[in-house]
Amino acid sequence: MKTKLNNWKGAAAVIGIDWGDSGKGRLIDDLSQNADIIARFNGGSNTGHTVANKFGKFAMHITPSGIFNQKATCLIGRNVAVNLEVLMQEMDAMKKAGVSFKNLMIDEQAPLTMPWHIMRDGLREKIRKSKIGTTGNGVGPTYADYTERVGLKVIDLISNDLKEKIYNEAQIQNKFFNLKISPNDVYLKFSKYAKVVKPFLGKTIQILKHNHQKGKNILFEGAQGYFLDIDAGTYPFVTSSNPGVVGIWRSYDFHPQNLDHVIGITKAYTTRVGSGPMPTKMDEATAKQIIEKGHEVGTTTGRIRSPGWQDLVLLKYANEANHLTSLAITKLDVLSGQKKIKLGVGYKLNGKVTEYVPHNADHLGEVSPVYEDFDGWSENISHVRDFKKLPKNAKIYINAIEKFTKIPVKFISVGPKRGEVIYV
Ligand code: IMP
Repeated sequence: MKTKLNNWKGAAAVIGIDWGDSGKGRLIDDLSQNADIIARFNGGSNTGHTVANKFGKFAMHITPSGIFNQKATCLIGRNVAVNLEVLMQEMDAMKKAGVSFKNLMIDEQAPLTMPWHIMRDGLREKIRKSKIGTTGNGVGPTYADYTERVGLKVIDLISNDLKEKIYNEAQIQNKFFNLKISPNDVYLKFSKYAKVVKPFLGKTIQILKHNHQKGKNILFEGAQGYFLDIDAGTYPFVTSSNPGVVGIWRSYDFHPQNLDHVIGITKAYTTRVGSGPMPTKMDEATAKQIIEKGHEVGTTTGRIRSPGWQDLVLLKYANEANHLTSLAITKLDVLSGQKKIKLGVGYKLNGKVTEYVPHNADHLGEVSPVYEDFDGWSENISHVRDFKKLPKNAKIYINAIEKFTKIPVKFISVGPKRGEVIYV
């Protein structure tokens, strides 16, 4: 497809193809200028999408990052773990900044993250021998209860028996998990939340379907990255939802073959936060430089992210599974000044080179990377808006990613500010 990404039309999805933290908020904020609908489809308040625009700087955890396009409708889908406390904070922040959220709709069927989920997340992590390093937002236990069919849903907020449901469940949770939750405190809190969110509840699938049929532009906002996927990721060091295209289906009954654009987003290098293997981990001295220059600190948790060289074996795999139509590469500027840059192009296991991606965390931890080395560039590239004007070695590096993955790179960010972007 020859069109530039900022002129996209139809149905587009932005999905992480790494371990998250790839700069989705910023890309979504840009692409949402063209969108009639922006639809969040997976994860919960573990997500932290940073958006900096004329309204200010925001870290979005539940609300779609496209909310700043005030003409678009923003949907929170059926498979998003809705943390109302966090949503209230976001609503307050938006109110203060003069951002209207009257076009926000939360799916009635979405699971609610309750106080006991957050407590359980913390308790489980504490006693786990090999810690996952969760964000502590109760996302895992929310989805666990949902799958067990005992969780509360958004629609319960407007039911006549909300009190009874909360009391029943709080008592069961206290009994099974040895918690000391006051059912009444939870009820009082959630009945307040219910009043605030009532005008925003609805059936998002119908809205989405109707708009798609009318030929409107729909942007699906993924959270996390494909290798944190509950099924495809490095279990158990994964999140509990589906960050790939399957997640769109789970929230909206929207078939992936109806997507006109599947934009895989990743940094020019990679990072991982929390536990779990990363074959292309950088040496300590380089990692320190990247953390400082790239501000590699978690938006939700404040934890330092561990940097690695870009791993094309993983990108290729994510492409096979999600049928990417383009790549968005962020933070290319952070690599400026590195004398040598490595690209992971294979794995070695028991002395043999393989492109096989082991999904089991222990097995991925056993592979050693095969690298291709590239000469770096020293120029500041933040002012560049035209791919041709990038330093020669930066172009060679991007071209190598395209050649290996066979996916065109259509978006490159070269600085943290809005507009510091190359649409290729
Ligand atoms: P949870 O999703 O909070 O249960 O955390 C499970 C794993 O996913 C941990 O390694 C987290 O660090 C990671 N994780 C969850 N959400 C994000 C995210 O938005 N960015 C990066 N890592 C995440």
